[in-house]
Amino acid sequence: MEPLSLNVLREKYLSFFESKGHLRLESFPLVPQNDNSLLLINAGMAPLKPYFKGERVPPRKRVTTCQKCVRTLDIDNVGKTSRHGTFFEMLGNFSFGDYFKEEAIPWAWEFLTKVLEIPESRLYPSVYVEDDEALEIWVKTGVPRERITKLGKDDNFWEIGSGPCGPCSEIYFDRGEQYGCGKPDCAPGCDCDRYVEFWNLVFSQFNGDGEGHYEKMEHPNIDTGMGLERLACIMQGVDNLFEVDTVQNILKHVARIADVEYHKDAKTDVSLRVITDHIRSTTFMVSDGILPQNEGRGYVLRRLLRRAARHGRLLGINEPFLYKVCETVIGENANAYPELVEHKDYIVK
Ligand code: SER
Repeated sequence: MEPLSLNVLREKYLSFFESKGHLRLESFPLVPQNDNSLLLINAGMAPLKPYFKGERVPPRKRVTTCQKCVRTLDIDNVGKTSRHGTFFEMLGNFSFGDYFKEEAIPWAWEFLTKVLEIPESRLYPSVYVEDDEALEIWVKTGVPRERITKLGKDDNFWEIGSGPCGPCSEIYFDRGEQYGCGKPDCAPGCDCDRYVEFWNLVFSQFNGDGEGHYEKMEHPNIDTGMGLERLACIMQGVDNLFEVDTVQNILKHVARIADVEYHKDAKTDVSLRVITDHIRSTTFMVSDGILPQNEGRGYVLRRLLRRAARHGRLLGINEPFLYKVCETVIGENANAYPELVEHKDYIVK
């Protein structure tokens, strides 16, 4: 498997699913449209809910996207660990009552093992404990039965708030024994760093009300989500988000402005990571029309900006600088998100 840039990986994914009859749609804005249940788009499927629920007719029954997402649940951990971030991109292929498990599983395998050439021996699928159908499809696709893990509802039933949900099958990458906890029962689903879950195939069959009540939807759907940055880590053989090529270029820009080096001092590294992550989120949020405010998504933006500015001070930067770094964010993402280039002057201002 070749180390591929994040931008190349995005394109490979979208064109693979185009070759399987999917319509490629641009990322939807971060601001949810007609959906009061969310402040910000936090998954590839979120803007597509009306198509899953049959409330609107999709432009095609097969769609593929790379969706910009913001999740701030773990904001306090950002920077402290090298894993957490508030901004990420989610690759997804979706079926609105068209294909189901029989196609979604072998296509995922084909993309990973044939297009990206990830060795089969490093991939481990998991299935929902009661989903023998998915298990048999994985076996038919060529995965040895003993490499498939059955997991319970906590791991393998996907839902977020209310809306379409269902059992899922997750794909794990084995980073190698050196990352493991060494326990005899270490396997996909273990809390240690050995097996990373990076692609979630959701067999979206229910509409949940967010309070534990599920209604079977008329047609089963497919909703898959793969974190692009996580895939890039695997393909680039790096440990974390901040070492992925495009993200690292942003971090290096911050380090240049602060005149510090990454990996020299733990506290400095925290600040570099906070700023790098938050400037990614805020550049995209401003581009989508969000402004700093005292409540709602405007407050999220304000909080991210203030945290980034404060960490700038901690690095000894005593003048406005975030506007300079956002130019690197725009440059690194210009091809996939032309709106950033279009709104560049506005964002910088
Ligand atoms: N909805 C699932 C997720 O967000 C798969 O797209 O992980």
